[in-house]
Amino acid sequence: MIKPVGSETLNPLFVYDTEEHHKLMSEAESLPSVIISSQAAGNAVMMGAGYFNPLKGFMNLADAMGAAEKLTLADGSFFPVPVLCLLDNIDAISGAGRIALRDPNMEGNPVLAVMDVAAIEEISSEQMALMTQQVYRTDDINHPGVNNFNKQGRFAISGPIQVLHFSYFQNDFPDTFRTAVEIRNEISERGWKRVVAFQTRNPMHLAHEELCHMAMERLECDGLVIHMLLGKLKKGDIPAPVRDAAIRKMVELYFPANSAMITGYGFDMLYAGPREAVLHAYFRQNMGASHFIVGRDHAGVGDYYGAFDAQSVFTEMVPEGALEIEIFMADHTAYSKKLNKVVMMREAPDHTKEDFVLLSGTKVREMLGRGMAPPKEFSRPEVAQILMDYYQSLDS
Ligand code: ADX
Repeated sequence: MIKPVGSETLNPLFVYDTEEHHKLMSEAESLPSVIISSQAAGNAVMMGAGYFNPLKGFMNLADAMGAAEKLTLADGSFFPVPVLCLLDNIDAISGAGRIALRDPNMEGNPVLAVMDVAAIEEISSEQMALMTQQVYRTDDINHPGVNNFNKQGRFAISGPIQVLHFSYFQNDFPDTFRTAVEIRNEISERGWKRVVAFQTRNPMHLAHEELCHMAMERLECDGLVIHMLLGKLKKGDIPAPVRDAAIRKMVELYFPANSAMITGYGFDMLYAGPREAVLHAYFRQNMGASHFIVGRDHAGVGDYYGAFDAQSVFTEMVPEGALEIEIFMADHTAYSKKLNKVVMMREAPDHTKEDFVLLSGTKVREMLGRGMAPPKEFSRPEVAQILMDYYQSLDS
């Protein structure tokens, strides 16, 4: 199986040893503690689950700036985004060498991790602006990722962590939330050698489904890992339980048995387009996928990014050999009325725009909200039904 990034074996930061876990939980109760941001909580969950291997904890300012500007940490290793724990108030932990990090997203704010504090650094507005611009390619505060990043505090607490909890993801999505360790194990148990991963934050329409079928066929893969984002999204996006149900229905009806794993990860969406695509590839390598699909406007929002910027970033910014996972770069897929199937648009050069079934997200949402199923050339009827039920429940 493909090696993790930066080490021979995967080193998740979750404490699996029950006795050690118990000991740390009781220690955490007496440590100075702080409720962290949702983004930092997502970072902790991802480190716990092995997806950010070989990181050992939250980055200091030098590493975060290096990751933002050059995708390189101070020791020369590769990492595509800053992994920060930003606080606005450090009174409760000032002077402490060891602290507990508490979950902002669960009632009672349970302890997510304990940390050995290596540094607390104040980030200047210029440094925040530089990181924002580098990662998001914009400083527009209306960009949902820029907004979330800048809503956090200005004190970066860094140092190694031991993760004790997977936040709400394990409780809320017991059948779907998986660590990178679990996915590696399952790939191995299934005997899959060539495995393509699919990132999604949406219910899967026909274009998504066919994209996966095409990737599997062309890459001659044994299996597909659908890996959905389970963390927070921007307003208007479809909640994870609804997406999960829609995807499960699609796989049940339209994929051969045992060809696809339905899994998810606990992280808030960054909407960082190209840069997030590199992060996505990074953690898919850690979970054991040999290939990763990047299609049109991957992890994008609004019109901040060009439709294929998330593909060109791999040649423009990722140093040779930094990632072993191979990227399946897909063109825009859509249903061709002439050929009666979904195709990559560049592979149908004789077509005009009118030969394809193309619907905007806004149009589809509008239809679903009115209880109208989008055409079967756009969405499987069973998937559309789940989405219509959801949109109509919003009105009642
Ligand atoms: S994302 O934010 O998670 O990227 P989404 O779930 O819509 O959004 O997309 C998942 C993957 O499918 C991404 O790689 C995206 O580029 C790709 N994709 C979605 N729709 C299309 C399409 N019509 N044509 C080509 N690729 C697509």
